[in-house]
Amino acid sequence: MATIDRTFHVDPATMHLYIESLGKIGWQDECGAVRLAYTPAWMEARKQLSAFMQAAGLEVREDAVGNLFGRLRGEDDSRTILSGSHIDTVPCGGKYDGILGILAGLGALKTLREQAGQPRRSLEVVALCEEEGSRYHATYWGNRAMWGMIRAEELDALRDADDISIGEAMRAAGFPPERYHEAARSDIAMFLEMHIEQGRILYDEHVELGIVEAIQGILKFQVTVHGRAEHAGATPMDIRRDAFQGAAQMALDITRQVEERGRPAVVTMGRWDVRPGGVNVIPSEVRFSIDLRHPDEATLRQLARVCSETCESVARRRGLEVTVEQIENYLPAGMDTALQQTLIASAKTYGASWKYMVSGAGHDSEQMSRHVPAAMLFVPSVDGLSHNPAEYTPIEDVVRGVNVLTATLYQLAY
Ligand code: GLV
Ligand code: MN
Ligand code: MN
Repeated sequence: MATIDRTFHVDPATMHLYIESLGKIGWQDECGAVRLAYTPAWMEARKQLSAFMQAAGLEVREDAVGNLFGRLRGEDDSRTILSGSHIDTVPCGGKYDGILGILAGLGALKTLREQAGQPRRSLEVVALCEEEGSRYHATYWGNRAMWGMIRAEELDALRDADDISIGEAMRAAGFPPERYHEAARSDIAMFLEMHIEQGRILYDEHVELGIVEAIQGILKFQVTVHGRAEHAGATPMDIRRDAFQGAAQMALDITRQVEERGRPAVVTMGRWDVRPGGVNVIPSEVRFSIDLRHPDEATLRQLARVCSETCESVARRRGLEVTVEQIENYLPAGMDTALQQTLIASAKTYGASWKYMVSGAGHDSEQMSRHVPAAMLFVPSVDGLSHNPAEYTPIEDVVRGVNVLTATLYQLAY
């Protein structure tokens, strides 16, 4: 497919309004966007989105876990072409990660409804309820619910920092948790997701669009180190069992080995909990997270062994106990090649420059691709910034991406 049948031009002012309206919700001046799953800010964002979907003439519906859908019903209503992304954020995130993909789908469906009328196949935009795993270790929660992959015991087992279970949080937000299985769907035909790149490749190389070939694998671990709480002044260095000194050495030794492996291997230890937390008390227990990523499955597994062996050997040398628990596991995922070709044909029709990319970030498309053909379109992130309140994509880059998405959806649904 060299080019596609018809082009569309979404209204930049509408996209700007969408981004700024949603960007305000959950914004904390000292931090950035905070819309953790099932919190008041998350609910407010869904309410605003729902209003925008209704105003765009879409049929609005929410499911049992809080995914929100806007439907443009087709002549053949048996299967659904889905586009969107996630509405939750990381702690202190920005105005684009996730939400832009939802607003892109919304802008596309609004434009198609106005300019092309009823589609042959049904189209839906989705705001998936939880992708980041920020409040709970529940990465892709909304997505997993749609594929019937939530296990009943998770409703109580997944707990936030205040020990509130995800089931309790759902109930408080108006979603009775016992109904979670009603979110499962069998009508999804394919998934398209526009997203900011979240890295600096497109920005540095002045390329307008990224066509994602694959999403790299992600393994997440929780490491718990036990030592002994003792007096900070009266315990000589050579006999203490300091859980923090041990954990810090584990983190540095792992980091060094991942650095030696070279690009694209990455590792992050972003969450730390040091107990008992007294200035003059030797830490007795430390928990820290490891987020390990690589596009090649064998290398990822080998680096996972490096993590656990390093923790064990540091613990042995320092007289500490350590457990390394794998809490999440997402293997590399390939995007659908036919959908990539349709996106490329659309990009060419608009005269946009593009390149193939491997996504460093995890995305809802990773889960979708396990079940249906899925594809992703990246737009540039200024300075490569993301998971940061300063993340930014100029409106002309947004509009270019949404235009390409709209024409692609037209090609697939009309
Ligand atoms: C989500 O942004 C992730 O890659 O963790
Ligand atoms: Mn993110
Ligand atoms: Mn995201």
